[in-house]
Amino acid sequence: MGIVLGIESSCDETAAALVDSGRRILAQHIASQDEAHRPYGGVVPEIAARAHAERLAPLIKATLADAGMTLGDVDAVAATAGPGLIGGVMVGLVTAKALAMASDKPLIAINHLEGHALSPRLADASLAFPYLLLLVSGGHCQILLVEGVGQYRRLATTIDDALGEAFDKTAKILGLGYPGGPAVERLARQGDAKAVRLPRPLLGSAEPHFSFAGLKSAVLRAKQAMNEGNYTDADLAASFQQAALDCVLDRTRKALELNHNPTALVVAGGVAANQVIRAGLEVLAAQNGLPFVAPPLALCTDNAAMIAWAGIERLGLAGFSPDPLDFVARPRWPLDPDAAPVRGAGVKA
Ligand code: KG4
Ligand code: ZN
Repeated sequence: MGIVLGIESSCDETAAALVDSGRRILAQHIASQDEAHRPYGGVVPEIAARAHAERLAPLIKATLADAGMTLGDVDAVAATAGPGLIGGVMVGLVTAKALAMASDKPLIAINHLEGHALSPRLADASLAFPYLLLLVSGGHCQILLVEGVGQYRRLATTIDDALGEAFDKTAKILGLGYPGGPAVERLARQGDAKAVRLPRPLLGSAEPHFSFAGLKSAVLRAKQAMNEGNYTDADLAASFQQAALDCVLDRTRKALELNHNPTALVVAGGVAANQVIRAGLEVLAAQNGLPFVAPPLALCTDNAAMIAWAGIERLGLAGFSPDPLDFVARPRWPLDPDAAPVRGAGVKA
């Protein structure tokens, strides 16, 4: 039995959570910075770092108080140590280091992507390794074979934009504000997904990689040409979402054809909150005779429970050793350091 305090501050959510090895979220607090960034149409790193610095300590205090605990009751302090906006990551990591040192508890430096990758196991005790994971967030778009805790094989990645980024940019083009994904999904419900013809980049290509830059540009052109076309903003949102879904399904199907014998098809990350994408993946999983696992919506977008849970998973490894108190925050931190660079992703062939 163990209890881990988790801290998340890599983007625009400041969060703390207490999770135990029985998969119970004992307490958690999330402070969103949406209001602070809204006037700029995206996350401003300096504003984010300041907000994390102001909010994190009271948030941790409130989380411990809600659970009726003190630091003495926890077995480890886990914090996101990258990848992400470096100012925010440093705020969370340095706070975790101070708490770990003051309470003489182990520090666990968590890769934010590992938090997303293992989050489905917090929600579903029966999810066993290896599983095929579609990790789709604002900064990342990857297909991974999750073989175990700390064992991630990247099967595919995006050669340009992440899927969440494409949703956010579409929202900006349509004047829907920030954050964009949920707004595009809402507007798309009123639109006709067949109204606007949009490209599906890399559809049918041999390797399961993604590309969304061309789709985003096509949305911009379609918006500019709106006067000549017979479609609405809602039609454009729905057509974009359908094109994105078609790409996701085609690429994931290709990854399944690699025959790694996964136990399940799993989706995680902020875009996993999208109902249309979840529904499409559920059908794909069924077609392949696989269970489909998606965490509850609150565990999809950034949160600290997934960071605490990754800490619990690490604590449970035979030969666990804490991270050193001089662990350096990493703005970039690939989950699979051995993955080959992808042609087209700024890499010359
Ligand atoms: O995982 P996350 O909270 O932060 C990162 O680690 O990036 O993901 C945020 C991303 C944003 O791009 C946001 O627009 C997208 O997830 N997102 C959605 C939805 N909810 C959040 N995209 C599409 N549909 C949604 N319902
Ligand atoms: Zn994230």
